[in-house]
This record gives sequence, structure tokens and C-alpha cells, in this order.
Amino acid sequence: MSVDPGGLQRHYQNKKVLITGGLGMIGSSIALELVSLGADVTLVDAIIEPFGANHFNISPIRDKVTVNISDIRDKESMKSLVAGKDIIFNLAGQVSHNDSIENPFLDAEINYLGHLNVLEACRKVSPEAKILFSGSRLQFGEIERIPVAEDHPLRPKTPYALNKVAAENLYLYYHRVYGQPTVVFRIANPYGPRAQMKHPKYAMINWFLRLAMEGKCIRIFGDGKQIRDYIYIQDLAEAFILAAASDRVGGEIFNVGSGVGTRFKDMAGSIVRILNKGEIEFVPWPEEYLNIETGDYVTDISKARRLLGWAPKTSLEEGIRRTHEFYKKFREYYW
Ligand SMILES: NC(=O)c1ccc[n+]([C@@H]2O[C@H](COP(=O)([O-])OP(=O)(O)OC[C@H]3O[C@@H](n4cnc5c(N)ncnc54)[C@H](O)[C@@H]3O)[C@@H](O)[C@H]2O)c1
Repeated sequence: MSVDPGGLQRHYQNKKVLITGGLGMIGSSIALELVSLGADVTLVDAIIEPFGANHFNISPIRDKVTVNISDIRDKESMKSLVAGKDIIFNLAGQVSHNDSIENPFLDAEINYLGHLNVLEACRKVSPEAKILFSGSRLQFGEIERIPVAEDHPLRPKTPYALNKVAAENLYLYYHRVYGQPTVVFRIANPYGPRAQMKHPKYAMINWFLRLAMEGKCIRIFGDGKQIRDYIYIQDLAEAFILAAASDRVGGEIFNVGSGVGTRFKDMAGSIVRILNKGEIEFVPWPEEYLNIETGDYVTDISKARRLLGWAPKTSLEEGIRRTHEFYKKFREYYW
């Protein structure tokens, strides 16, 4: 953590923090930082396949956190878990937008009703707790203009994006009507250590990295010119930690990404070049992906810079290198 580490250390010392989805990529990465800042961290996870829960994600802090295996849809569990907490990172989620088309009910149960459940539990027993929500760039649907600021229209193209928009509105509603301090993030494409590596449903860089590590072919849809914004996990975790420490951002929405646009083929090219392994092939867009393509995306991060004093620090090259180092060392826990 590099932004005012002394201030954050004082802020988080002995703070009671709950992280739902805490065994996943984003939750465990935040947990690692929070433990080093002196927070008292409880992780909740339902360990549902094929999501990204992995006990190895928290191996460096296993003795310093409490792990509770439960589901955010469970009313009684949530009531007892949110009680007495100062900060809640409510990150539990079904993360695949393609799977949400196959099973929109499961997506709504977890990504909408599960979040309503946690918010209701907080309203009843923890009305002061600050709650952070991790929405997605997919909430915007078809992109009209880049870089994308918070006021860009929301036209979700999948049940995942739709439920994220609905859940985001829950967070804003609970702030507006009940005064619960909530903060909403809409995240670009995160990647880095601690993401699941078993399927290509999310964290595309991670999946391409696996293919390259195995010397396999990376297939790119279309001409590969589509632009995306890839945010390194540690930078993202830092934005969450700064937002949770600020008293001035209740009810605010932040678009969070690197602020840098990269063509898909250049991202894949960087992986092959850095690893000196793997190869790239261009294939036609499969229909099920073309239907949900949003167009080029780059995040306007000026609001997050201004209000959180946050700036991403990790270039794509550096992020790929670090991610590669991690999986080279710990491959057996992720393959
Ligand atoms: N990875 C991305 O591309 C991305 C992008 C934008 C937003 N997000 C959001 O960030 C959050 C965290 O995602 P991640 O990338 O760390 O994914 P992840 O799959 O690594 O982590 C999600 C965790 O939530 C847990 N979980 C799922 N349903 C649960 C439930 N009902 N109760 C308790 N735990 C449950 C899973 O077991 C998993 O450990 C999700 O809400 C996701 O929608 C992710």
C-alpha cells in the first residue's frame, strides 16, 4: 500500500472487517492488504463451483483471519456475521456473464437477492457499517463513448449486467433512504494473482496466460482490435481500501480501471512475448459472444483519482510479469 500508508494503518488498526467472497480473487487480495494494515478480518465464502474460491489464496494470512463457510443468501448467517463489523466488502458473486444467460435465476439469487440479504441484515443489526459493492463495466452495455465516466448510460446486455445494475441500485437506495454508508464500484477487466485458472469465463488475461504457459494456442475473436481496460488486482484492491477508509464517499459510484485502453491482440501479444511461449490465432466471433459484445471500453478514472486520491501503478507488462511469476511458483494450487 503506497498512498499515505501511515494514515491507512491508523485507520484500519483493529477495524472489524467482513469480506464476502473472501476466498476469491478480489476478496483475498483485499484481505492480504488489510491484514498488513492491522485489521481484524473475517472472510465468508460459500465455495460454489465453478467460481474462484481457493483456500490457497489466503495461505500467507491463514492464521490471522477468521474463515466462515456460508452463503450470502442465508439470512441467519448474514445477520450474525455483519453484527459488530465496521466495514463490509460484499464481493460474493456469480462472475460469468455467459453463465448468467444459461441460468438467470442463479445469477439473480446470488447477485441480486444475496446482496439484498446482506443489506437487510446490516439495516437491522449494523446500520453504521460501511458496505462496498463490486459492480462491473458490463453494466454499461453498448458503449457510446470512451473513456467511460460514471454518467454513461446503463444498458445491460446480459442477466449478469442487469442484476449488477439492480444490486447497485439497492446500495444507492440503502444509502439514500436508510443512511447506510455504501460505495459502489464498477470494475473494468481485473487480472493478476489469485484468480481461478480452470476456465475462460472471466479474468481473460489469466486464461491466456495459462494457455501460453502450456505452449498452447490463444484464440482471438474477430480482428483482435477490440479495446479493453485491464486493471491489475493490487491496484484494484488499493482502490477498495482507500474508498472504505474515506468518510466522504457514502452513496458514491466509482468507475475503476487502469484508465488505459489496450487492443485485445496487443494484450495477447504481450503475454506471448513476455513468456516467449504460446501462439495466437484469429477466429470468427462465436454468435454467443458477438451478441453480448459491448464495443471498446476504457475507464474514465478521474473521479476515483480526485475523491479517493488513488492512481493505478502497475503497467500491463509489469502486471503480466508478476502474474506469471505467481503462477509459475504456485501452479499446482490453481491448475
Ligand atoms: N473478475 C471479474 O472480471 C470481475 C469484474 C467486475 C466485477 N467483479 C465482481 O467482483 C466480485 C468478486 O469477483 P472475483 O473476480 O474475485 O471472483 P471470484 O470467483 O474469484 O470470487 C467470488 C467469490 O464469491 C464466492 N461466492 C459466490 N457466491 C457466493 C454466495 N452465494 N455466498 C458466499 N460466497 C459466494 C465464490 O465462491 C468466490 O470465492 C464479484 O461480485 C464479481 O461480480 C468481477
